[in-house]
Amino acid sequence: MIKKMSLNLYAATILLSALIINTQTVVAQSTFATSLKEVFKNDFLIGTAINTQQIEEKDTASDRLIKQQFNAVTPENIMKAEIIQPGWDKYNFDLADKLVAYAKKNNLKVNAHNLIWHSQLPSFMRHMQDADSVRKYFVNHINTVAAHYDGKVYSWDVVNEALNEDGTLRKSIFLQKLGDDYVVEAFRLAQKASPHSKLYYNDYNIEQPQKRAGAIALIKKIKAAGVRIDGVGIQGHWRYDKVPMKDIEESIKEFSTLGIEVMFTELDLSVLPNPWDNATADVSATAAGNAKMNPYANGLPDSVAQMQAKAYADLFQLFLKYKKSVSRVTFWGVNDGQSWLNGWPIRGRTNYPLLFDRNFQPKPAFYRVIATAKSVSK
Ligand code: G3I
Repeated sequence: MIKKMSLNLYAATILLSALIINTQTVVAQSTFATSLKEVFKNDFLIGTAINTQQIEEKDTASDRLIKQQFNAVTPENIMKAEIIQPGWDKYNFDLADKLVAYAKKNNLKVNAHNLIWHSQLPSFMRHMQDADSVRKYFVNHINTVAAHYDGKVYSWDVVNEALNEDGTLRKSIFLQKLGDDYVVEAFRLAQKASPHSKLYYNDYNIEQPQKRAGAIALIKKIKAAGVRIDGVGIQGHWRYDKVPMKDIEESIKEFSTLGIEVMFTELDLSVLPNPWDNATADVSATAAGNAKMNPYANGLPDSVAQMQAKAYADLFQLFLKYKKSVSRVTFWGVNDGQSWLNGWPIRGRTNYPLLFDRNFQPKPAFYRVIATAKSVSK
């Protein structure tokens, strides 16, 4: 009798735990099945930066998340000049063509990044002295690359990071050799070479008043020249505990009065200290191995994850408040493991700036962002 009862009890426990596991899995999957692109489908595009592995579908875990959560992608590196034009007359469209095919297959809008930028320039032109040669490179690069992807990509970051923190033009090879009007010229060439793609100006810290004023002057100059510009991208590389909410709100308001889209194009909220945070110039303090600069190598404390989640929720609340002006929010990477912030500004650190962890599982920030959408839609 006892034996029969304990067998039943045993069977019941197995059944119960199976039920619990099953429920948990269903709950997790169902909750996890909730997707960013779904909950924000009537508000703005939700994108992610993707790398070569992901474009070539060699990263299945990323692939699942990209298809499930996002409806827009930005190539993290493969459409930059040093990769897409390795030689004077040599263009390498292989990876970017794969990106376009991958995006088409998965109904993802491509924001091509970028045509003109002072960084990651091809080695043959990085130190060019002759202005005519720089102009020839400038014209050929835009005409050839933008024409090749006309209508195949949804949009272009035509010019990236042309401003200094005080709003003046950065002293790049383009400013030095082509003069103040090079940004207007870049958009004029892009508009002609790519009439079927949207054209954007993209930069970091342009939510900050001085740099914002510089960006507004630049956008007005392009428009005054009768040249098309469709939007401005605020990159959004912030620290979770220092998100400039007031400046961001002010910048959405000011940029949208120019009749252009406002986007957050490279969003990530770092949880690590930066060398410039502490007054000391003691470089050893910034050594990768220094625990103070790499405090979460063994995991992110839940308290920090919760504060980051709140910061993300506050941001999305603001984006929803201005959803008539905000057309896209793109995260700079699919998950924490992919982030450039593990190697910058100090190599070999462990950062947690995004919504999905290194196991591609949603973090508290994911649920807070989803909840934000749900609270607003009520
Ligand atoms: O591809 C080479 C590889 O062959 C080599 O073995 C390896 C060793 O160093 O380097 C690889 O190139 C790296 C490239 O990323 C691809 O992974 C470069 O060193 C590295 O500098 C480059 O970093 C990129 C960075 O832009 C370059 O400025 C980051 O991945 C990318 O996230 C970052 O993105 C920029 C945006 O384009 C513009 N806004 C700021 C943002 C963050 O810096």
